[in-house]
Amino acid sequence: MNIDRIRQDFPMLTKQMLCYFDNAATTFKPSSVIDAIVDYYSHYSANPGRGEYDIAFKTHQRVEHVRQQTATFIKADPSNIIFTSGTTMGINLVAQGFGLSYLKEDDEILITEGDHAANTLPWYEVAKRTGAKVTIMALGDDQRLTVDLLKKHFTTRTKILAFPEVSNVYGVRSDVKSLVAFAHQFAVIVLVDGAQAVPHHNVNMKDYDVDFYVFSAHKMCGPTGLGILYGKPEALTKMQPTVFGGGMNLTYNKQQKMDLSAIPYRFEAGTLPVASIFGLGAAIEYLTTLGLDKIHEHEMALRAYAMQRLKKLTNVILYNETSDSAIITFNIKDVFSQDAATYLNTKGIAVRSGQHCSRNLSEHLKTHGTLRWSAYFYNTMDEIDRFIEAVKDGGNYLDAYFE
Ligand code: ALA
Repeated sequence: MNIDRIRQDFPMLTKQMLCYFDNAATTFKPSSVIDAIVDYYSHYSANPGRGEYDIAFKTHQRVEHVRQQTATFIKADPSNIIFTSGTTMGINLVAQGFGLSYLKEDDEILITEGDHAANTLPWYEVAKRTGAKVTIMALGDDQRLTVDLLKKHFTTRTKILAFPEVSNVYGVRSDVKSLVAFAHQFAVIVLVDGAQAVPHHNVNMKDYDVDFYVFSAHKMCGPTGLGILYGKPEALTKMQPTVFGGGMNLTYNKQQKMDLSAIPYRFEAGTLPVASIFGLGAAIEYLTTLGLDKIHEHEMALRAYAMQRLKKLTNVILYNETSDSAIITFNIKDVFSQDAATYLNTKGIAVRSGQHCSRNLSEHLKTHGTLRWSAYFYNTMDEIDRFIEAVKDGGNYLDAYFE
């Protein structure tokens, strides 16, 4: 990949000198994505599926085209793709639309201590409302969910398993296919949080055979406010809408009877974030043209280089020396993570600090907060050199110490 050329596509990379290493939080957008959003407002600007005039029809066609693109991107059928406002909303939809009616008292929902709040709190709430229990699996030294770990926690009451394909703190990837195959032997429904996976490597719904899979557009060069929920047809059939209104019904009357629209439309009440959907289409095209294999290869080279240099620093504590993605979690010795991130900011370097929305992981990390370096395909070795120089001096500039 010609990274210098690629960087020209990103206004955020050409107009400033920031070393942006917070790509697990969100990614920068290429001009083609920004242009697609402007294109909607400049040349379409209609509400899809609601008008008998040309621009409404064209808008509808383009939205459905992006649904098809999204399906192709994750090897699924377009009728199984639901547009949501993000990963969080997708998991909430499954938890409430499926979990509330599916779960009975004393049933068990299995999650891991490494799960993001988005894949933890919706299950806490559903458990509270149904009398089901959430079992939080402690991770082992390899930091990932494995079939062996599942074997220790599965009981006859286990009904739902939810876990991230790639951890947003450790960056390790779980083997979705084997975990799903194991869970299905016991008729356990599986939801996978793919927010940190889809932007970085090929995923395949047909191969995974997973019941539900969620991800966000903004972590894959797309716009904010848009996410995708994939569901297997049999799982989606069992799910009820949680948001009601226009577009999700076929008819209703004063006797308060309502017929639902077909799947996926019954889960898309109200006006969709159309401009963002146009942007997602451009993002998928951009990533597909670059090639997910090449993207992943470059990211792993960046990780290897950053790790090799970090290991040589005596003032650094590393929490994931090996992982499957360009995420490195670390601390500068004796420095509170937020102070270290503030210091790095003065050097033009953006990393995330704190608990990364994964508060249940503190025990496993054996620390309250960490710094998280996360790269994407547009980052360079030179940026890593700048980052390393700043980290090297990190402790010297700070007077707030972490006990
Ligand atoms: N989920 C995002 C992260 O991990 C915000 O940083």
